This record gives sequence, structure tokens and C-alpha cells, in this order.
Amino acid sequence: MMPNQPDLFRRAYRPAFLFCISLFLCLHISAFESGPAADHDSDEAEHVFGPVTGDDIKRGERLFRGLVPVGPDAASCASCHNVNPIDTFNWNPSAYEIARLYRDRSAGDLHAVVMEPVSPKMMEVHDAYEISPEDMFLIKSWMDDFAERGMDERPVITNLILFLVLLVVFIAAVADLVIFKKISFKLLHLAVILGTGLFMLKTIAHEAIALGRSQYYEPDQPIKFSHRVHAHDNKTDCLYCHSIAEYSHPAGIPSVSQCMNCHVIVRDGTHSGRFEINKLVEAYQNEMPIRWIRVYNLPDHAFFSHAQHVGAAGLDCSECHGEVEEMDRVMQVYDLSMGWCLDCHRSREVDVLNNEFYSVYMQLRDDLRAGRLDYATARETGGTNCMKCHY
Ligand code: HEC
Ligand code: HEC
Ligand code: HEC
Ligand code: HEC
Ligand code: HEC
Ligand code: HEC
Repeated sequence: MMPNQPDLFRRAYRPAFLFCISLFLCLHISAFESGPAADHDSDEAEHVFGPVTGDDIKRGERLFRGLVPVGPDAASCASCHNVNPIDTFNWNPSAYEIARLYRDRSAGDLHAVVMEPVSPKMMEVHDAYEISPEDMFLIKSWMDDFAERGMDERPVITNLILFLVLLVVFIAAVADLVIFKKISFKLLHLAVILGTGLFMLKTIAHEAIALGRSQYYEPDQPIKFSHRVHAHDNKTDCLYCHSIAEYSHPAGIPSVSQCMNCHVIVRDGTHSGRFEINKLVEAYQNEMPIRWIRVYNLPDHAFFSHAQHVGAAGLDCSECHGEVEEMDRVMQVYDLSMGWCLDCHRSREVDVLNNEFYSVYMQLRDDLRAGRLDYATARETGGTNCMKCHY
């Protein structure tokens, strides 16, 4: 006789079901016994020697940003060592820079440089801290994580979003006017289309003209070299460093060894301490060039010579570069457009009579002497001729 259905279930499935349940319970209980208990054993020791947990990193960041106090009246680390990219010039090393520098060093080293500073600048800035080795370990954990992640990109706030919104409005207005015809008041369409259309045209034209130009460009340099400190405070002549400007096309950027003429001795800066000058010394010892970021740059199809302007015409650097000696970080002050070159060539008087450089312009000199011309500009010497500036 065949067993009926419930019997079959009882005989075959129920034991299997019970087995599963008991297995599940066993595993669960054993996990309960060994898991958290084992974690707890090593908790104390691991706090100082790693491995680092996500929680350590979060607490380290809070300490660095000063959300958890780091001493009575002590400034937060982040108030000097900026965590996010900033537009303004900052003499203090960024948080990313110090994180990179200390990546291969211990939390103990970090503790020493903050709690027992040695250089004059370090004593001045790393003052009044009360940070335990445990807390410094947390700060170091965050710094190591930060060194891996890198600095967040600057948020892109441009006209682009506005442009896209207007584009959508523009398309909607056109679509309603031509296809959907939901709004019967036609003037509204026209006003919207005209308004958004004009703005977009203006933006496109503006961007197209500015393409490849970079007025007000002011990049952070690999070393915070300050023209204010060198050319103004210490009165070093521009030509001491840009020595080829008088007789060649480029003005030239000084080599590392030229910097070291002075920095063999000068190792502490008033604003930056040893941090920036250390980079220079390191580059010198490793015979590595410094990768300065170029600020002033013409497109390849335009020709420019410093010798012509500084050597021959005797122009001052500031006529084209602004008051560089007032800048901690070089900024491009003029747009370097063709119109900018030509404006000066058409308007600035050139001393053709008393400058030996122009002795070849005999006809021009005659005209000036005879009073047929009041004065000469670069236009008269050929400075508006296309071929002078374009190959
Ligand atoms: C002690 C050396 C030194 C002196 C003095 C000096 N410069 Fe410089 N200059 C540099 C270095 C290094 C750079 C590259 C780093 C930078 O852009 O800040 C530079 C960059 C520049 C740039 C930007 C170049 C580019 O397009 O990237 C200009 C312009 C300039 N200097 C003009 C001047 C003028 C004008 C003076 C005098 C008022 C002067 N410099 C004095 C060392 C010097
Ligand atoms: C003619 C001598 C001279 C030359 C050349 C020179 N420096 Fe300096 N530099 C100085 C002096 C002086 C100071 C100021 C030290 C102070 O703050 O008391 C200084 C300061 C600095 C500082 C620290 C600024 C601060 O206030 O923290 C940096 C960084 C620096 N120089 C980089 C350079 C670099 C890079 C070059 C080569 C392009 C260079 N220097 C060439 C004399 C020179
Ligand atoms: C008042 C501004 C200021 C504050 C606040 C500050 N620092 Fe600094 N820090 C500096 C300056 C400036 C230097 C470069 C000094 C030098 O090289 O002589 C520096 C250098 C450093 C360095 C690099 C040391 C080296 O070996 O070159 C580390 C690491 C550092 N700071 C960590 C910290 C930490 C961590 C905190 C918070 C507990 C902190 N700093 C708070 C200004 C500050
Ligand atoms: C008539 C305008 C003008 C004058 C005056 C002038 N410059 Fe320039 N300078 C430029 C232009 C334009 C560039 C970009 C050239 C290029 O990209 O080919 C430039 C580039 C530079 C650079 C970038 C690097 C290089 O080697 O060219 C430096 C540094 C510089 N100038 C320094 C100086 C100094 C120092 C003086 C004064 C002695 C000076 N300039 C005078 C217009 C001028
Ligand atoms: C501040 C005024 C000024 C600015 C700005 C200026 N120049 Fe000049 N330029 C002169 C003067 C003055 C002369 C000298 C006239 C001469 O020697 O023939 C000259 C001469 C020249 C010459 C030689 C012309 C010849 O007859 O051989 C060239 C090429 C030139 N400039 C290119 C440029 C370019 C390219 C720019 C823009 C990137 C520029 N200049 C910006 C003032 C200026
Ligand atoms: C005094 C120097 C100078 C003279 C003269 C000059 N140009 Fe230019 N030109 C420039 C410079 C510098 C640029 C690059 C401007 C820029 O990057 O916006 C340029 C750019 C251009 C461009 C590219 C479009 C642009 O705006 O970038 C054209 C095309 C041009 N020039 C044509 C001419 C013609 C044609 C002549 C003669 C009528 C002439 N140029 C005379 C300096 C000159």
C-alpha cells in the first residue's frame, strides 16, 4: 500500500527540516560566542598600533577640523592646513601636503612635530596643543586615509548650469509655439525665446573669444615662491633671476642652483617656516628640476620677444605683467589678446631719435627731425605688420 501524503512529509521532510533548524541555531550560537568576544580582547592594543577602523578615521578628522577640541585656546589644525581646495593664497602647507609628507612616518613622529616643535616657525604655530598619543594616532589615521584619497576637486560652479536651464526653457517655448500650442498668448513665447536666445548667444560669443586665454590665471606653484618676499622685501632685481630677458625671446626662469646661491644659508622663511624651502633643498639634493606652472603663455602662432621690448624699447616689466613685486603668487593681469598688443603698438611713443637700436629707420628719423611727424609709435617701426607677430 502506498503511504498517503502527510506520512511522506513526516518521514522524509520533517527530519530534514529539523536538521536545518538545528544547524542554523548551532552556527548562530557559536558565532555569538566567538565573534564579539574575540574583538573585545584585542581592542585596547590595536587602538595604538592599528589596524585602523573607519571610526578611527572619522574621529581623526573631527580632531583635525577642531570639532573635538585639541587644547584650551588652541587653533584647529584645519584653520591653517586647509582640507579643501581654496582660491586664496595660503602660506601654510595644505592638509594634503602634510598628509603626503607623513605617510611613511609614524604617529609618534607626528606627535613630536606638533607637541615638541623645534624650528622657530613651528614653535610659533604649533603652540598650546594638548593631544594624547591616542588622539594623535586618530589624526594620523585620518591623514593617511586623506593622503590616499587626495583632495576633493573644486566644485564646478559655472554658467553651464544656467545655460542648460535656459536651453530647456528655450526649447520648451519653441516647441509650444510650433507644436503643442498650449499657451495662446504668442507674445510670451517671443519674449522668452528672445530673452533666453540672446543670453545664450552672448555666453557662446564670450566663451569663444576667451577660449585659450586665461586672464587672472593664478595657479598654485609647486613651491610657494613669493615675488613679494624676493623682489620687494629683499629688493632682488627682476633681472637677477630673469637674466636673459634683455637679450633673448624668453625671460627665463631661474634654475634650482640659482635659488641655492642664497638658500644654502637661508633655511627658515618668515611666512612658511622650513616647509617650502625644504622642498627646494630636496630638489637640489636629488638634482630634480622644479616643475613651475607657466602663467603667461601665447599660442604657438604668435611670436613674442622680451629682447625687443625690454632690451630695445626699454619697457618696464610691470607694463605687461603688472606689479609682480606685490604678488605672493603670480597672476596674469592682462588678457594677452592681439588687441592688447596692438593697442600699445599704436599708442606708445618710441624714442626713435635717441635709441641706437632704431638707427636703421633713417626715413623715420628724418621725418621726425623735420617735424613731418610729431612722434613715432611701434606702428611706424612695423609693429602692426601681421608678419612681425605671425609666422
Ligand atoms: C629670486 C628670483 C626671482 C626674482 C628676483 C624675480 N622672479 Fe619672477 N619668477 C621667478 C620664479 C622662480 C618664477 C616661476 C614661479 C612663479 O611663477 O612664481 C617666476 C615667474 C615670473 C613670472 C611668471 C612667468 C610665467 O608665465 O609663468 C613673471 C611675469 C615674473 N616672474 C616677473 C618678474 C618680475 C617683473 C620681477 C621683478 C619685479 C621678478 N619676476 C623677479 C623668480 C624670480
Ligand atoms: C638673492 C637671494 C635669494 C635667491 C636667489 C632666492 N631666495 Fe628665496 N629667500 C631669500 C630671502 C632673503 C628670503 C627671506 C627669508 C625670511 O623670510 O627671513 C627667502 C625666502 C624664501 C622662501 C620662504 C618665504 C617665506 O617668507 O616663508 C621661499 C619658499 C623661497 N625663498 C624660495 C626661493 C626659490 C624657489 C628661489 C629660486 C627661484 C629663491 N628662493 C631664490 C633669498 C633668496
Ligand atoms: C597657526 C597655523 C597652524 C596650525 C593651527 C597648525 N599648523 Fe601645522 N604647520 C603650520 C606651518 C606654518 C607649518 C610649516 C612650519 C615649518 O616648516 O617650519 C606647519 C607644519 C606642519 C607639519 C609638517 C612638519 C614637517 O615635518 O615639515 C605637520 C605634520 C603639521 N604642521 C601638523 C599639524 C597638526 C596635526 C595640527 C593640529 C594639531 C597643526 N599642524 C596645526 C601651521 C599650523
Ligand atoms: C611688452 C610686454 C612684456 C614686457 C615688457 C615683459 N614681458 Fe614677460 N612676457 C610677456 C608675454 C606676452 C609673455 C608670454 C610669452 C610667450 O608665451 O611666448 C611673457 C612671459 C614671461 C615669462 C615666462 C617665461 C619666459 O621665459 O618667457 C617671464 C618669466 C617673464 N615674462 C618675465 C618678464 C620680466 C622679468 C620682464 C621685465 C624684465 C618682462 N617679462 C617684461 C610680455 C612682456
Ligand atoms: C606696453 C606696450 C606693448 C605691448 C603690450 C606689446 N608691445 Fe610689442 N612693442 C612695443 C614697443 C614699444 C616696441 C618697439 C618698437 C620696435 O622696436 O619696433 C614693440 C615691438 C614689437 C615687435 C617688433 C616690431 C618690429 O618692428 O620689429 C614685435 C614683434 C612685438 N612688439 C610683438 C608684440 C606682441 C606679440 C605683443 C602682445 C603679446 C606685444 N608686442 C605687446 C610695445 C608693446
Ligand atoms: C603685435 C603683434 C600682432 C600683430 C601685428 C598681429 N597679430 Fe594676430 N595675434 C597676435 C596675438 C598675440 C594673437 C593671439 C591672441 C589670443 O590668444 O587671443 C593673435 C591672434 C591672431 C589670430 C587668431 C585669432 C585669435 O584671436 O586668436 C588671427 C587670425 C590673427 N591674429 C591674424 C592677424 C592678422 C591678419 C594680422 C595683420 C593684420 C595680425 N594678426 C597682426 C598678435 C599680433
